[in-house]
Amino acid sequence: VSSTRLVDRAEPFVRSLRRRADTPGRGPRTTVVLGRLLGVGVLLCFATGLFSHLVQEQPAWLPLAPRPVWLYRVTQGVHVGVGLALAPLLLGKLWSVHPRLFAWPPVTGVRSALERLSVLVLVATALLQVAIGVMNTAQWYAFPFSFRPVHYALAWVLLGSAVLHVAVKAPVIARHWRAPRASGPSVEAPEEGVGRRTALTAVGAATAATVLLSVGQSVTPLAPLALLAPRRPGLGPQGLPVNRTAREAGVLQTARSADWRLEVVGAAGARLVVLSLDDLRSMPQTSATLPISCVEGWSQEADWAGVRLRELVALVGAAPDSDLLVSSLQVRGGYRTSVVRGPYTEDPATLLALTLGGEQLDLDHGYPARVIAPGRPGVLQTKWVRRVEVLG
Ligand code: HEM
Repeated sequence: VSSTRLVDRAEPFVRSLRRRADTPGRGPRTTVVLGRLLGVGVLLCFATGLFSHLVQEQPAWLPLAPRPVWLYRVTQGVHVGVGLALAPLLLGKLWSVHPRLFAWPPVTGVRSALERLSVLVLVATALLQVAIGVMNTAQWYAFPFSFRPVHYALAWVLLGSAVLHVAVKAPVIARHWRAPRASGPSVEAPEEGVGRRTALTAVGAATAATVLLSVGQSVTPLAPLALLAPRRPGLGPQGLPVNRTAREAGVLQTARSADWRLEVVGAAGARLVVLSLDDLRSMPQTSATLPISCVEGWSQEADWAGVRLRELVALVGAAPDSDLLVSSLQVRGGYRTSVVRGPYTEDPATLLALTLGGEQLDLDHGYPARVIAPGRPGVLQTKWVRRVEVLG
């Protein structure tokens, strides 16, 4: 008797769940509309992410060009801006299909098993990719693995499973690609549940708000609106944000020391020139207006001045297009050194910067000297430089 009562009591609840699951807004058309936007977003993230990977790895086979100076700023701004917009779109799409994710029985044959496996991989990868991407931009490294290699591998898995998913669902996608001609009951406000228009408007509003409240981290005039952005243009010492401070890098003593010297080393250690800060200041100074473009999406233009790298390495007899290894005083962190490839060394705007906005560099911006070059991600603009070595 009691079990019958339990079923009786549960029935209205189950019926209401089913009604909500059957809500008109959750039809295939909603899923296709959101899927199209997600597809474009994932492709944009993949292309810009791959570009970021190559710019950082600088493989020898890749013809690298430091110009235009704003290129990495734009590609990585797009990557993180679109990446953030993927979060509400993905949640909206999962809302539109989730009753089917838990359909029972889960598989009805080999074909359906393969189809569901591909959906599982796609959903898990997309959620993980977006989650760790957002966490990375907030510098919240709560995951027990290194971000870049995992995010890079997931990008390929995501691309592959998305292509497979589109192929499997091609007939449904084709059927619902265009809006239905007559506005059926699923478009108009239904008597019960959520209509398609309401569902799409809600997801669209959440996506627009996410973009509007974060895009100012790379589009400077919108900086005051960027309330969701961890770093905002204009905020930081000398009006420029900082990712890693001198304290975090462990250089508080060494960077301020009167004993600081810059070592310029020729190919195979053949020649060595040691320069003090005054020596560097007495060399010809060049000014350049270049952005700092952080891998985490924020960017800001600034006025730098210092010694051209190609003039510096000329002191040890190196060609202006030499590959260089730049080392920092930094004792912690993965970016203690960086390679500057020939095309960047040669660029007249590639500097060992000594000033920012006409003032001596702030300690957190790399005092006494830092690299600033066009078209390089911020992590490669090595701060607190102690040694420049000609490679090869
Ligand atoms: C969903 C599709 C996405 C794809 C296919 C994708 C792909 C990639 C790839 C291939 C890289 C280069 C990794 C490397 O240098 O080895 C990258 C970097 C990056 N991605 Fe994504 N990404 C996606 C989403 C996101 C999202 C949602 C965010 C955050 C909002 C994000 C934030 C980042 C950041 C901060 C980097 C730079 C990491 C670094 O160099 O330290 N990504 N992405």
